[in-house]
Amino acid sequence: MNQNTDFLPFARPFIGAEEEEAVLKVMRSGWLTTGVETLAFEKEFAEFVGVKHALAVNSASSGLLLALEALKAGKNDTIITSPYTFTSTAASAIHLGAEVEFCDTAAGSYNLDPAKLEKLLSSGKKYKAIMVVHVGGLPCDMNAILALSRKFGVPVVEDAAHSFPSRLKEGFAGSLGDIGVYSFYATKTITTGEGGMLVSSNDELASRVEKMRMHGFDRAAWDRYTSKKASWRYAVTEAGYKCNLPDILSAIGRVQLKKADAFLLERKRIASLYDEAFRDQPGLSLPPRGILPEDGHAWHLYALRIKYSKKMNRDIMIEELAKAGIGSSVHFIPLHIMPYYAKRYELSPDSFPNALAMFEESVSLPIWQGMGMALAERVANTVLSIINKRQTG
Ligand SMILES: Cc1ncc(COP(=O)(O)O)c(C=O)c1O
Repeated sequence: MNQNTDFLPFARPFIGAEEEEAVLKVMRSGWLTTGVETLAFEKEFAEFVGVKHALAVNSASSGLLLALEALKAGKNDTIITSPYTFTSTAASAIHLGAEVEFCDTAAGSYNLDPAKLEKLLSSGKKYKAIMVVHVGGLPCDMNAILALSRKFGVPVVEDAAHSFPSRLKEGFAGSLGDIGVYSFYATKTITTGEGGMLVSSNDELASRVEKMRMHGFDRAAWDRYTSKKASWRYAVTEAGYKCNLPDILSAIGRVQLKKADAFLLERKRIASLYDEAFRDQPGLSLPPRGILPEDGHAWHLYALRIKYSKKMNRDIMIEELAKAGIGSSVHFIPLHIMPYYAKRYELSPDSFPNALAMFEESVSLPIWQGMGMALAERVANTVLSIINKRQTG
């Protein structure tokens, strides 16, 4: 915990009196775990993103595991994903006994390259699923990816951990593939502390996830304790997992969902301020944008790129920002340079040069609702003064 009261954290949840009241209401209700609040949250979320089924889970990591399980990924299967992601995207396949094949990002992009994906899919090898990641909240080229999915008959799981609410002409990022998974982790665009939402419009997949989310029971706990049928009678029909989201957290999620568009507006304003400050500055590159002017960016992250030189680079920028009382982060250290994946798949840093290049230059700046434009300006001015001092020093 940083004791400096002037310290500007990289991320901070925006929780108000409404969330507090919603939690108290649940705590006083006599029902803490998954029940009416979660059912209501699921219904409201499904309506918001326009899908048939939304299933609340205790994290996006659990949701990704359940997604691949529903697609029957297991031993002798391989899934494709980008190295530019958090470990749980790939680990979900490993947990099920499947293997991962990484596909590099496009040059200058944080998202998986559809051209490279096509090359992999054309190799003749069979793949169980394509897992795309909308890094930082910028949607992948879903038209190209879904066309490849149809052509090669490989389903798409969208890791939408960063991308709520990313609206595209075709619908929300996360709602376009076979299954999408959102995260409500503490730093995300809306939060329940920990939590996530799996969405799908496929009845069969949703029904499998619903069962495996809760021990493989044939009945939900809520149904057992509220329906007229005997509460003690249930059947275990599969060796399932325990990944449900309790009502206390769903109550927070319902309030946050109502604020999602206002939150997005605030993050967009901060992103525009940063863009204006950093545009045309030597040694800096703005975050990539989508193909269309209204590219559906959720602005979960604002990742500025710092061109490498001896006097100035990403690591120096992070150190100098910290000295000035500003928190920052890096998204992501690509998985192919993480010891576990490097060893398992005999990968070197050069195996995925585009992902490596983006990692080496990127710093994620604070961008969160409740931060306010004055603090955004402080961040922008500090970044510029660090750059100028080094260039003239
Ligand atoms: C791209 C991505 N996928 C999945 C996750 C996992 O989310 P959770 O913490 O909700 O399990 C994260 C977490 O930061 C992430 O960044």
